[in-house]
Amino acid sequence: VPLKRQMKDNMEKQLSPEAYELLTFIGKEADSLGMKAYLIGGMVRDLLMSRKNEDMDIVVEGDGITLADHLQQKYGGHVRSHEEFRTATWKYSYAFKVDLTSARTEYYDFPAALPKVELSTIKEDLFRRDFTINAMAICLHRDEFGELIDYFHGFEDLKQRQIRILYNLSFVEDPTRILRAIRFESRFHYAMDQQTEALAVESANNLLSVSKSRIANELSRLFMEENPLFSVKRFVKLGLLPFLIKDTDTETIILQRIKRLYDAVYRIKKSEVQVNNSLWIIYVLFLTTIKNKSWMEVEKYCLTKEDMKLLSNLQLLLKSDPLLDWSYHATKDEWHEVFSEFEVEVLISYFSLYPNVLTQGCDYLIAREKLTSIITGEDLIENGFDPGPHFRKLLLESEKIQLNNPKITSKEIIEHLISRNDI
Ligand code: CTP
Repeated sequence: VPLKRQMKDNMEKQLSPEAYELLTFIGKEADSLGMKAYLIGGMVRDLLMSRKNEDMDIVVEGDGITLADHLQQKYGGHVRSHEEFRTATWKYSYAFKVDLTSARTEYYDFPAALPKVELSTIKEDLFRRDFTINAMAICLHRDEFGELIDYFHGFEDLKQRQIRILYNLSFVEDPTRILRAIRFESRFHYAMDQQTEALAVESANNLLSVSKSRIANELSRLFMEENPLFSVKRFVKLGLLPFLIKDTDTETIILQRIKRLYDAVYRIKKSEVQVNNSLWIIYVLFLTTIKNKSWMEVEKYCLTKEDMKLLSNLQLLLKSDPLLDWSYHATKDEWHEVFSEFEVEVLISYFSLYPNVLTQGCDYLIAREKLTSIITGEDLIENGFDPGPHFRKLLLESEKIQLNNPKITSKEIIEHLISRNDI
């Protein structure tokens, strides 16, 4: 018998009126087709945690595609369906995308294969999922609207802050769940229960049979969470590293290096320097020896052009390696002279390989972020400079002066530039 709990009030309080209304429509239309619809997964979990999340995953006892088509006919939007899995995505509006799946029993041909699908009931569907906190549903059916359905004590685990699998072979069937478990530990400050953790360790070697792209997908999501250092510590504790990457460095070196990067990123972000998501790939790189062979391996994990670009720019920078004989006393303009063309993500990764000057490197990035150039090309022309490729140098020079003297006026800069006939 599942724990039942009425969630209607919570839903009304926490969700936007549009989201709440959409859920009532979905429930009603499913009823009219003789199907039962349930909200499931992350959004239910986050509702119980009072975290904002309106990514709707709907499971239907019945056919998800039929319901999606029906909703689209009635309320508009677009439907994309996947016949093979009986799933559909209904893009209702700019703000709302609803994933509809047919309640299913997933079974696996062999470890790490993609699941096959058979239609079944909500309970069976929930049982095939990863963790108890993700295996709760909210009924959208008219008479039971808002009822929480919790067969596997997800609510209890949520209160205990536990990540718990539902059946012993869970990690064997889908080893990427080991990485998902760490992701949820990290995000919510939860912990796997003892048995789940023991099974994660036991099943870790199954990660070897998962495709690179699925591993990359999970690693990226993991390292985009707030605290990648936590995750790497967990990799070490659970002994996952040898099953994730071939060319791993020693644990001590990995942890030191990743802590430096993590601390540096934390510091510059606090000073409002924006760092984009492609940095996740550097956390992967930093698990390796960063020798020649590492790059080829890590390249295979790149998911986007951005990831690839970051990786190759860092490699390029390491080839010229300007920090190799860098002075501890270098001034901000000297940093800018060498690094002005590089993006924050490349630089923070590179600087964190040089602990002696990492603080100065971060200071430079923060100062650079605050810098708004007071001299433009227009200003140069107005002051009698002939336009040409040397403008780039003049503008860089102007920025360098500003970095050293943040209070300087544009007039003073122009005077200085006029006196500099070497540029
Ligand atoms: N799921 C699973 N096993 C996986 C991946 C997903 O059982 N290997 C199930 C989980 O029940 C999860 C749901 O599919 O709740 C949706 O997956 P996903 O969108 O990846 O996870 P969310 O829980 O929504 O995570 P997030 O909050 O990061 O979006």
